Amino acid sequence: MKVTVIGTGYVGLVTGACLSEMGNHVMCLDVDPAKIRILNDGGIPIHEPGLLEVVRRNVAAGRLEFTTDIEKSVAHGTLQFIAVGTPPDEDGSADLQYVTAAARNIGRLMTDHKVIVDKSTVPVGTGDKVRAAVADELAKRGLSEMEFSVCSNPEFLKEGAAVADFMRPDRIVVGAEDERAILLMKALYQPFVRNRDRMIITDIRSAEFIKYAANCMLATRISFMNELSRLAEKVGADIEMVRVGIGSDPRIGTQFLYPGVGYGGSCFPKDVKALAMIAAENGMPSKMLTAVEEVNEEQKMVLVHKIVARYGEDLSGKTFAMWGLAFKPNTDDMREAPSRVIIKELLARGAKVQAYDPVAATEAQRVMEGWAGLSYAEGQKQALEGADALLIVTEWKEFRTPDFDGIAASLRDRIVFDGRNLYEPELIRSFGLEYLSIGRR
Ligand code: NAD
Ligand code: UDX
Repeated sequence: MKVTVIGTGYVGLVTGACLSEMGNHVMCLDVDPAKIRILNDGGIPIHEPGLLEVVRRNVAAGRLEFTTDIEKSVAHGTLQFIAVGTPPDEDGSADLQYVTAAARNIGRLMTDHKVIVDKSTVPVGTGDKVRAAVADELAKRGLSEMEFSVCSNPEFLKEGAAVADFMRPDRIVVGAEDERAILLMKALYQPFVRNRDRMIITDIRSAEFIKYAANCMLATRISFMNELSRLAEKVGADIEMVRVGIGSDPRIGTQFLYPGVGYGGSCFPKDVKALAMIAAENGMPSKMLTAVEEVNEEQKMVLVHKIVARYGEDLSGKTFAMWGLAFKPNTDDMREAPSRVIIKELLARGAKVQAYDPVAATEAQRVMEGWAGLSYAEGQKQALEGADALLIVTEWKEFRTPDFDGIAASLRDRIVFDGRNLYEPELIRSFGLEYLSIGRR
């Protein structure tokens, strides 16, 4: 099938590449010429495992192309996927300007039937706004009779595992209101979900709601575990044992129960805020979501509080090695990364930070440009040189079995503050290191 994907970010690029992998002819459009240049030069603008190979293979096969030419991209796809950003507005609600602009471009230029598929995460009712924007543009051209379909197809991929998630999805959710759109979407996704039970066909509003509900449910689990971890420390329990003990109940399950330094990334923070705004606008402010967000803001400070409790408020003269900057492993995404809050708070108290991340350093330098006292190390070992203590913020695999002797020899104060509970406390202490982690004795 001929598919256009509008927006070539984390979601759009993965969607376009993976759809072309199944034989579709995909054209990816972006308004950012720098991104399209990188893609047309054979690279990708983000770090995402396995993505470059899929992109290169399908470009070579002539099934995947990249453009800034809106006219060409509207003409190309029977299916027009909108995968542009929906960042939070000042009040936390989703900013729909990019979605609306993409929809208007389609209405302004389409000459035959299009199925317009919203893949961006959007508030309930956006399908109607997309329909109205396209209809308005058609009316301006005197083409009010021209028919088109609108669909909602929220995306559930996780960064760092995006290609695998897209190729083998838990479920595909499609919100649609006409048979043709449903048939086309079923045909498009059939190769990804050979078992049809994994396709959930529903109305547009429910599909839009499912996406927010899923992310907010997951964020709620994390905030609840983070709150429990603080209580565990107070009452002398071990949150890791509690996690295993409750996760073995199939009604609870083991995933997304890891306490840490708070959730970050481009989705949970903004989607919790956006659903809270939707609730408030509908006259039923959400106590749950307010609490989820508050607990998460507090949790980003958990390592800073431990450091202050150990060293006092004045950290001048102290240098902290930091392992991990990205909001999670296997990505270079620094959006809402807890490391940013931790670094800012440490620098504000006079400390220096020597940070290392396997892939996110370049992006970190961009988002924290000019932060005095923050420097970047080439490797784990280099970050430790001359440091008083080590902070672990992102659970990259390469941090899991480090050279404990080397850490103990490098750190002046021999203290490790672990925001991801990577080590057995007894083991790490046997190397002569003091170990402070999350929710453990
Ligand atoms: P992103 O910021 O990485 O990419 C968005 C892209 O859209 C940018 O490259 C931008 O230049 C482009 N763009 C903006 N307006 C455009 C227009 N009118 N025409 C063409 N291109 C345009 O965003 P993302 O992380 O890919 O997220 C996109 C959407 O998907 C958001 O709604 C997000 O909530 C949702 N989502 C994201 C993830 C994720 O893990 N990142 C997962 C599921 C859903
Ligand atoms: C999330 C959703 O998982 C995905 O379905 C949706 O499409 C986009 O948003 P993503 O933000 O890429 O994906 O990463 P995810 O793995 O969900 O992690 C989000 C944040 O939660 C990270 O900061 C991570 O460190 C944190 N987290 C996750 C925890 O603190 N504990 C956990 O148990 C799991």
